[in-house]
Amino acid sequence: MKPFLIGLLLLTPLLMGSGEADRSPSVDEAVESAKLLALFFDMGRVVVGEFQGTINDPAKGDKGFTPEVFATHVIEKFEQETGLVWAQLAASSTPPQAKRLLPELLDVQKAVIKDRQSLINLMGVGFKGFIPASFGTTVSLRFRRESGAYVKQTAAIVRNRRNTPDMYETANLKTFASEDYPHGKTLAETVDDGQKIRVMVPLYYQDHCLVCHGGPKGELDKTGHAKEGGQLGQLGGAISVRLAVP
Ligand code: HEC
Repeated sequence: MKPFLIGLLLLTPLLMGSGEADRSPSVDEAVESAKLLALFFDMGRVVVGEFQGTINDPAKGDKGFTPEVFATHVIEKFEQETGLVWAQLAASSTPPQAKRLLPELLDVQKAVIKDRQSLINLMGVGFKGFIPASFGTTVSLRFRRESGAYVKQTAAIVRNRRNTPDMYETANLKTFASEDYPHGKTLAETVDDGQKIRVMVPLYYQDHCLVCHGGPKGELDKTGHAKEGGQLGQLGGAISVRLAVP
């Protein structure tokens, strides 16, 4: 599975034309933290995607896909995308909120990989249903519970009701899907009288997504869900982050 977000965070300037000049440094920091969290969350999904062949190998018992191996891969991707050095995050100019929340997100991801070890290491079973999306749903719920910060994958029509968009997300998913919306552009806004920020990053269907989300519409995919009839390059959903402005 290829990263959806390659370069996105680095190439997308801090957004939202109107009001940008009035934005306080703490809002900018929260937006930057939210973008980093969205990227790290997505990279976790990408790593689980890259290990699908190993995870679903029926001939193999111990897959060696441990929390530590996962962490090495996700950190490597994050460093490639951002130019940050994970081991030096604390000393970097990264916003304090991100310095605190990124390691918490990694801990949650590692805990979920740890919990799934007996499934991952099952012998004699091919497809195990431990896919990037189910990993993402579990990580999202646990991270929200444990950190109080909100990172979520969502779509206009969801397979898992836990990913159901709220009103804000529904409206922005519509915006993302409209023809004149700039491809890949992240949305960032303050809400609740400036006390919170919301950031949404659009996700688009790539070839390998269409095995499950493509056509023919209504046919069951290998996870037992009805395919959406999605097409290459079409909006597949979004990653949504909500943080308090520090
Ligand atoms: C192996 C089949 C499969 C592939 C490949 C796949 N998905 Fe999914 N996707 C699912 C399933 C199953 C869920 C529901 C996960 C859950 O139950 O938490 C899902 C959920 C999602 C969601 C969250 C919203 C929802 O419907 O619950 C998004 C967004 C999404 N997929 C986008 C993508 C994109 C983009 C790709 C390619 C990069 C992709 N998917 C590849 C099966 C797949």
